[in-house]
Amino acid sequence: MLRFYRSTIGKKVIMAVTGLMLVIFVIGHMAGNLQIFIGPAKMNTYAAFLQSLGELLWLARLGLLAAVLLHILMAWQLTQISRKARPVSYTVRQPQVSTLASRTMRWGGVLLLVFIVFHILHFTTGTVFPMASRPDAMYPAFTHVNVYGNVISAFRVWWVTLFYVVAMLFLMLHLFHGAWSSLRTLGLAKPSPRPLHRRLSTAIALIVWLGFTAVPVAVFFGVIR
Ligand code: HEM
Repeated sequence: MLRFYRSTIGKKVIMAVTGLMLVIFVIGHMAGNLQIFIGPAKMNTYAAFLQSLGELLWLARLGLLAAVLLHILMAWQLTQISRKARPVSYTVRQPQVSTLASRTMRWGGVLLLVFIVFHILHFTTGTVFPMASRPDAMYPAFTHVNVYGNVISAFRVWWVTLFYVVAMLFLMLHLFHGAWSSLRTLGLAKPSPRPLHRRLSTAIALIVWLGFTAVPVAVFFGVIR
């Protein structure tokens, strides 16, 4: 077990498995969020249901936290290993089959971490909750019982909306490379003569991007209010 953890392939397998767990969470979360288009009652009943799960909710939170921490630790260790293997960087670097997505995995991942920390302080705890400069009865203050209202108030602020939209672009890139490479690491997808032809990861990345981005954009432009 320890030998597996210490090996490069062991670290990659942990990276792939935790990554796939996060992909499943992200798809579920996106689908849950889309209920906002049905209306406040539907959205708030769903939020109340999640909050009523009690210990189960905490179990899911702990599982997610462990997956995120392991994913970051493995990324950090693999980066150190690859730096050690090539301490002097290339003078001329001409990528052959890499993509924008694969080249932004590290910095994009850091941005996603910043996003997740902000996101929890924003929607879960309400610690950081910027409001539109002219708050009135239309834009309710943060409360745990009106998640619909929280989302409506949150995305009336232009820079909050912009931050979410940009973060979702990085999430899309991260998924486009990550969903594909995790299946390759685990041997679930065979080597292909056309490595850039990735139907499944392209579909996942696009659906997740569209599904998440639709909410802040629709609120900002007043489609849902
Ligand atoms: C436009 C995009 C998103 C919107 C509108 C959104 C909305 C929300 C809302 C309203 C909550 C609070 C739910 C409640 O209190 O019942 C929440 C929680 C959460 N979201 Fe998001 N979310 C978005 C994207 C993401 C992404 C991309 C991730 C992960 C990569 C994520 C991870 C989480 C986590 C971990 C929680 C906390 C769950 C908990 O411990 O209670 N969200 N989100």
